[in-house]
Amino acid sequence: MRLQDRVAIVTGAASGIGRASAQLFAEEGARVLAVDLPGKKLAQVHENHSTITCLEKSVGDADAAQMIVDEAIKHFGQLDIVMNNAGVAANALVEEMSQEVWDRTMNVNLTAQFRLCQRAIAHLKKSKAGRIINVASVMAEGTDYGLAAYCASKAGVAGLTRTLALELGKFGITANYLEPGAIRTGMTSGLWDARPDVADIWAKKSALRRLGQPIDLARGALFLASDDGGFVTGHGLVVDGGLMLRV
Ligand SMILES: NC(=O)c1ccc[n+]([C@@H]2O[C@H](COP(=O)([O-])OP(=O)(O)OC[C@H]3O[C@@H](n4cnc5c(N)ncnc54)[C@H](O)[C@@H]3O)[C@@H](O)[C@H]2O)c1
Repeated sequence: MRLQDRVAIVTGAASGIGRASAQLFAEEGARVLAVDLPGKKLAQVHENHSTITCLEKSVGDADAAQMIVDEAIKHFGQLDIVMNNAGVAANALVEEMSQEVWDRTMNVNLTAQFRLCQRAIAHLKKSKAGRIINVASVMAEGTDYGLAAYCASKAGVAGLTRTLALELGKFGITANYLEPGAIRTGMTSGLWDARPDVADIWAKKSALRRLGQPIDLARGALFLASDDGGFVTGHGLVVDGGLMLRV
């Protein structure tokens, strides 16, 4: 049990990477507060995982960070791991992108991560193994047409997390970010089910010749959350099956 006696917050936990991570953390002994939007089938995350507690709340709300941290402390009395995973995709050329799309993407993907880290710090300082795991993307380093807001938000996550690592290291807190490649989740399966040829292109681009599954990222998150990753901080862990190897 690699997370025995630890308490974790996982956002965006109703689906995909967040769901797999919340459940793997629970299977490794953690008590988990799983956060997602209202009506997003969070209860299913809890099934067969009695140490997972659910909270329906948009991380984009200004009061969300304080509410989430308060809920974790109320239920579990401590906080050791924060996994900022909730995210949204946006696709629009810069010339045509509305301010609303830009603002929503930055708010959910970046500002919400900043706020939750900020509110969690005082509690993480009390932990023997404080951990921040922010979910970025390989698009923090690369890009594609229409991805300006998404890429900017994910590059921001990388910068935020490296700075957190520097500022919080003296308290024994690590801060790292994950860079998923092409992963079959709620975010991608709509397109890939409708266009299997597109999914096939992504799979063939990766060295391992397959799409990623949520559990591939959950295992990376578990490494960073556990004692195994105790001397790793300020690091972007690429979990992409070798997607980004070729220029
Ligand atoms: N799937 C991929 O290929 C891929 C690649 C790189 C990065 N990522 C990142 O991985 C993370 C998880 O995404 P996923 O692929 O598992 O997608 P997903 O759609 O399966 O899961 C994302 C979850 O976040 C939740 N969410 C969205 N907005 C929210 C909000 N305002 N408040 C609370 N919850 C909210 C959604 O309801 C959903 O349950 C995201 O940050 C995403 O950008 C995914």
